[in-house]
Amino acid sequence: MSAPSQPAQRGISGLMNSTIGAKIAMALTGFVLVGFVVQHMVFNLQLFAGPEALNAYAYNLKGLLGGNFVWMGRAFLLACIVLHIMAAMRLSARNRAARPNRYAAGLKTQTTSYAAKFMLGTGIVTLLFLVYHILHFTGGVIEPDNFHILDSEGRHDVWRMVVTSFKNPVVVVTYVVANIALAFHLSHSVTSMFATLGLQSGSYRPLIAKIGPAVATIVLLGNIAMAVSVIAGLIHI
Ligand code: HEM
Repeated sequence: MSAPSQPAQRGISGLMNSTIGAKIAMALTGFVLVGFVVQHMVFNLQLFAGPEALNAYAYNLKGLLGGNFVWMGRAFLLACIVLHIMAAMRLSARNRAARPNRYAAGLKTQTTSYAAKFMLGTGIVTLLFLVYHILHFTGGVIEPDNFHILDSEGRHDVWRMVVTSFKNPVVVVTYVVANIALAFHLSHSVTSMFATLGLQSGSYRPLIAKIGPAVATIVLLGNIAMAVSVIAGLIHI
């Protein structure tokens, strides 16, 4: 006689309870998050174009859909971050449960476990950086004097806020270290994201293997260039 079947779980909790569901949730939310990080870096590069470009961009973005666009984007990003972390916790709990005797584990399992620990470590550094970064540039809680500056048009002077902040070597080191951790995280995760979504087959395989390191390097160089250019005096007020 067969055991009574458990009622099927629906929604997010049902999705997270299967390994493949958690992997797909991780890949889809990761796709949104890496998309945000890339576009954020590209638009922030307007720091090199001067105050008018960056301040006008920030002002126009905040005015989209009567100011609602930014809040909808924030809610969507927050939901993706929460789901991404939930999926990571679920997968790492499942991996631990599937490996009852870690000392008897073979080389492959050890390699997988190093990758998982590495992703966890770089993910935690990125999350801590994000909290600091939002308190810094979005909330104005860190360095409030830099935050409450308006430009000649009466707009939030985002350019001056960022440039003044990056004159501080401690801030620059924090951004460089956090962006290195983010780059390691992206390098591994963007490639595995494509593998999870089934795109790492056949002739695409060599391309997909390179896409993670390529995206990570572009984001790292773009973000670090801004902080380093200010402290090196290439961008100044
Ligand atoms: C040199 C690198 C970076 C610069 C110059 C920068 C700049 C900024 C600025 C100026 C804001 C505030 C925008 C505003 O309120 O007008 C902001 C917000 C934000 N940044 Fe960055 N950022 C950098 C790197 C990053 C990285 C690496 C991440 C992700 C890991 C990130 C994620 C965010 C998020 C989530 C927000 C909040 C967006 C919102 O206001 O809703 N940033 N950033």
